[in-house]
Amino acid sequence: MVDVERTLDEAGLTNPHVREYVAHWANITGAERIEVVSAADDARLIQESLDAGELLPAGEGLYYSRSYYKDTARAEERTIVATSNEADKGVYNNWKPSAEMKPKLVELMTGASEGKTMYVIPYLMSPKGSPVEKFAAGVELTDNRNVVLQMIRMARVGVEYINDLGDSFVKAVHVTGDLENLGQGTPDDKRYFVTVADERTILHFGSSYGGNALLGKIAHGLRQGAYDGWKNGFLVEQFMLLGITDKQTGKKYNICGGFPSASGKTNLAMTLAPDALGDRYYVEFYGDDIAWIWVGDDGKLYGMNPENGVFGVAKDTNEKTNPTAIDSIVPGTGAIFTNVAYNAKTQEVWWEGKSEKPTDLDGWEDWKGDIIADRAPENADDPWAHPNSRFTTTLANVPNVAKDFEDPKGVEIHGIIFGGRTRDREPLIRAIRDVAEGVYDGLTLGAEATAAADGLEGVLRYDPMSMRPFMSYSEADYAAHWLEVLGRATTKPIFAHVNWFQRGEDGRFLWPGYRENLRPLNWLMEYLNGEVEGVQTPVGVLPKREELNLEGLDEQALADLDTILTIDVPRWQQEMGFREKHLAQFDGLPEEIWEAHRRVAQALDNA
Ligand code: GDP
Ligand code: PGA
Ligand code: MN
Ligand code: MN
Repeated sequence: MVDVERTLDEAGLTNPHVREYVAHWANITGAERIEVVSAADDARLIQESLDAGELLPAGEGLYYSRSYYKDTARAEERTIVATSNEADKGVYNNWKPSAEMKPKLVELMTGASEGKTMYVIPYLMSPKGSPVEKFAAGVELTDNRNVVLQMIRMARVGVEYINDLGDSFVKAVHVTGDLENLGQGTPDDKRYFVTVADERTILHFGSSYGGNALLGKIAHGLRQGAYDGWKNGFLVEQFMLLGITDKQTGKKYNICGGFPSASGKTNLAMTLAPDALGDRYYVEFYGDDIAWIWVGDDGKLYGMNPENGVFGVAKDTNEKTNPTAIDSIVPGTGAIFTNVAYNAKTQEVWWEGKSEKPTDLDGWEDWKGDIIADRAPENADDPWAHPNSRFTTTLANVPNVAKDFEDPKGVEIHGIIFGGRTRDREPLIRAIRDVAEGVYDGLTLGAEATAAADGLEGVLRYDPMSMRPFMSYSEADYAAHWLEVLGRATTKPIFAHVNWFQRGEDGRFLWPGYRENLRPLNWLMEYLNGEVEGVQTPVGVLPKREELNLEGLDEQALADLDTILTIDVPRWQQEMGFREKHLAQFDGLPEEIWEAHRRVAQALDNA
């Protein structure tokens, strides 16, 4: 057995509650060694991973890793929120009694880290000193070195974040398991990703993929955070967060918004770099995946990004779509690429949409490690990179990261937007002033699922506020909580629904997207200010064509514009029927939400 006490003493981990927790799980998992890590250990751990072949060099200070080929995305059907109260059961949170799940996970984890090192990762999902800091601390235990390296990039890591916090930290246990023998996707699937929300304990077994294994990020930053927020009066959402300053007027607006995984949050928050639309606007990046939102003492709504890094989708990231992302993963940044293609001779990485596909196949291997030049003819067109391949880089590497991104006060929120991949019906943007209608709009977000969730790509489904995979309590309570928090805010944010993904009959996107998305957001802020009036429709206010800045848009975009600035009333009326069924699943949904639904339905019938 390892000498836990001595190891923790040497690491300066003094918090007695954390020490007890570490000793408890070291005993269960049977790890051979314990190592407490901090951000300062990064260089050494990187070297160890390179020596062990877990990481491959991908240029100066850049690294490449592959995950097991059946372990490349979040496994939603294996993800469970457990509590001791059945009233927490919702439609999407896969609720189970904690008394049933905890023993299962203990059994799976028993002895499962034998011969391995158990890394202790004390972390904070917040800048230090924020009003929600008390809910942001955690300690992840993992037997996977790559998880440590990713966590060091994605969170603030070190004993100093947890030593003084007593027992208010999340216990987050990650055991990788024998990936080749877990029956992923079969009836005998052995993986379990459980958040025991009312005990602030996370038990994940059977994956080393980021979305399942970086417990600070998704399991704590979203699921546990949302549960804690519900009990303590704040919101925790899968939202990006950006700030737009109009240099002519000096006004700054902060907008946050939910789009389902792999539907454009990271791109929206990053690509709108300072020069996105001439030099009138200055766009700052705060966060790309998670926002914690609360009402400040002054009655205003505040938001902050609890993360310290970006875990971005690689596909289609290039100089044109997202130059800021490209700049944040250049040599020297310490970025880690996962499941992209790799050239074993030149150490280059490549993914679909990065550049023209290399024509010289020498040295190239696909994301599984198979040599491209040796591919059978029938596999010639298979993607080189996994569609959910990713890059991991810290916020400090993002060129347009806001100067005050670490300010614990957070930033005032002026707008909340929702969007997703919707091929018809949803216009470019529709603004909603009424809070209940805005919350209703978020709850009825319908979009195509993406490769970020295993086996679901392209399936049309409702994804309330983009939180479906992270919902930790019942949807009715969730809706009531939103209304309660926003009810307390003395200045209300404006809501909007956006869609960058409407398609033409030939399948092409009708809107160029990416950096051009600043145009509808600017319109929204002008609308908020009363500078434009838009066109009232049954589902919100749409921009008049001439109210949008159209300078420099290409011919095709200009020709397609009228389609994405109109409402197809019969199609919307059909949608209202689907929404009614969707909302009816949520027992006890607040009457204000139903009233909003009926108002919109009535307006459509009168149109
Ligand atoms: P996130 O997972 O929500 O953060 O989404 P990302 O920003 O990483 O984008 C996911 C995928 O959608 C990537 O392949 C992007 O290239 C693509 N994407 C993002 N924004 C746009 C857009 O405005 N238009 C189009 N057509 N694709 C986009
Ligand atoms: P994404 O983040 O939203 O950027 O895809 C990871 C995830 O939600 O799985
Ligand atoms: Mn996400
Ligand atoms: Mn993202």
